[in-house]
Amino acid sequence: MKILIATQKPFAKVAVDGIRKVIDQAGYELVLLEKYETKAQLLKAVEDVNAVIIRSDVIDKEVFDAAKNLKIVVRAGAGYDNVDLEAATAHRVCVMNTPGQNANAVAELVFGLMVMAARNFYNGKSGTELMGKKLGILAFGNVGRNVARIAEGFGMDIYAYDAYCPKEAIEEANVHALDSTEALFETCDIVSLHIPATPETKESINYALVNKLPKGGILLNTARKEVIDEPGLIQLMTEREDLKYVTDIMPAADAAFKEKFAGRYFSTPKKMGAQTAEANINAGLAAAHQIVGFLKEGNEKFRVNK
Ligand code: 3PG
Repeated sequence: MKILIATQKPFAKVAVDGIRKVIDQAGYELVLLEKYETKAQLLKAVEDVNAVIIRSDVIDKEVFDAAKNLKIVVRAGAGYDNVDLEAATAHRVCVMNTPGQNANAVAELVFGLMVMAARNFYNGKSGTELMGKKLGILAFGNVGRNVARIAEGFGMDIYAYDAYCPKEAIEEANVHALDSTEALFETCDIVSLHIPATPETKESINYALVNKLPKGGILLNTARKEVIDEPGLIQLMTEREDLKYVTDIMPAADAAFKEKFAGRYFSTPKKMGAQTAEANINAGLAAAHQIVGFLKEGNEKFRVNK
């Protein structure tokens, strides 16, 4: 069996070494395609492999068509909006993710970005502290829970809304559970997004919603750029000079945000949330173990397609 790691944004070397060990022990062969620049390279690399480990790499119908021997794709991470699940199912390929494995890394970055925004991007002027501020967590999944845990240490007043998580589960974590996304934006000084990119969430963070933030509000995005209505947010930030937007996923309109909102906008150059050795090891090894479990025993835990 041939297992490919296809990562435009590579794992830390220590994670690749760990994956190699798991694959070797299973008696399989590991091949590596890192930092590839063209889709043609990916199409060539998948031609004869049985399994692929990816990150945000786009696996669409064309890739499935090219991968004649492919049985499983594991997205080493949480969000799998980069994989065409219908095409996978049509090609009888199992798709999995590795939920939770990089959640702490993303949650820690939330606070790196939050402090930076609260301190005016370190421009020397007085900013604000996080203690006592109302933090809104939109979606209480693995990342949202880790954000709540860390926020407690900062002494924040923590709120969350999750359409799919019972209020009791949120309150058990010492977090105030709200009834709607609107209520979260109305209530909180800082809102941190942890929703997946789906047809329902696409562009759902729009002008009207963000306009509910109180004066001086901060919108923090370590989720996906697709959930933001970028023209709406640009219009709102033009009208409301008190708002800040900080993101780990560069908007399509990054140049416009940068030009118009100097001192109120920041984007990491590349998504950094899961870029820690620990997260790479956790997600990478989980992916390798899930592939071995699937190929040797037919274990389909964490399968996300039908
Ligand atoms: C995820 O969905 O797991 C995160 O967004 C991390 O994505 P990455 O592996 O591309 O850094």
